Amino acid sequence: MSAVATASAIRVSGVRKSFGDLEVLRGVDLDIAPGSVFALLGSNGAGKTTLVRILSTLLAADAGTAAVHGFDVGAQAAEVRESISLTGQFAAVDEILTGRENLMLVARLRHLPGPGAIADDLLARFSLTDAGDRRAGTYSGGMRRRLDIAMSLIGDPPVIFLDEPTTGLDPQARLEVWQAVKELAAGGTTVLLTTQYLDEAEQLADRIAILHQGRIIADGTLAELKALLPAATVEYVEKQPTLEEVFLSIVGDTSPAEPPSKEPS
Ligand SMILES: Nc1ncnc2c1ncn2[C@@H]1O[C@H](COP(=O)(O)OP(=O)(O)OP(=O)(O)O)[C@@H](O)[C@H]1O
Ligand SMILES: [Mg+2]
Repeated sequence: MSAVATASAIRVSGVRKSFGDLEVLRGVDLDIAPGSVFALLGSNGAGKTTLVRILSTLLAADAGTAAVHGFDVGAQAAEVRESISLTGQFAAVDEILTGRENLMLVARLRHLPGPGAIADDLLARFSLTDAGDRRAGTYSGGMRRRLDIAMSLIGDPPVIFLDEPTTGLDPQARLEVWQAVKELAAGGTTVLLTTQYLDEAEQLADRIAILHQGRIIADGTLAELKALLPAATVEYVEKQPTLEEVFLSIVGDTSPAEPPSKEPS
């Protein structure tokens, strides 16, 4: 695959998508730098998975353009697919096979030399060496998700989509997956992750965008988003707003400049 010189790993412009009468995406714009971790935040049904499906060529947009790794998702779908991997909420792990066999299977499907060595390397990177020869069906949720992310790395795709990588996991397993995502970022992979968890975005992302009512209503670094809500708005205690406060303030209708009062003036 030829490396494509591009300023953006992912560029989305004016993307719209409806299902029947339901307008899910109403003109989405995004620009994601190579090697960054980008979190797409949104409530249930906001359209996060829909956007990820469009970017991974599984679904066609009604309007607008999107490019991944420099390739148009419509006109160059095959090149896009070679440049990405997608890990959905439900792990694509074969439970009958061991962790090591799962990894080797993907390496063989991708026609890579030395599948055993590839598997061993990934098992080590994701702290699964000891469990490598156990059937994946015996793994905990966190181990399974880690194995799934490891499988998605085979072939070194430059762009990885993680759709709600930690939904349904317990706190320990979430930490394990966070660690795996940090490893990806350290290796230079561009990661677009969707999440409903504000702390997850806060922990992992270089930039955060909020998808709400079909549009990106905020997009910036954590510091930039926090700057939308000045610390001074918290009257009694001088403190920085949490991302949760920023999110609720932007998504909700309450004015961030006003302290709560019974009677709106
Ligand atoms: N194939 C489809 N046909 C009809 N409606 C759909 C289809 N796919 C998604 N939708 C609807 O589009 C809206 C957005 O769905 P989507 O799965 O993108 O949301 P999401 O942000 O990923 O939500 P969640 O956080 O629950 O995963 C929802 O109302 C959903 O019911
Ligand atoms: Mg979803």
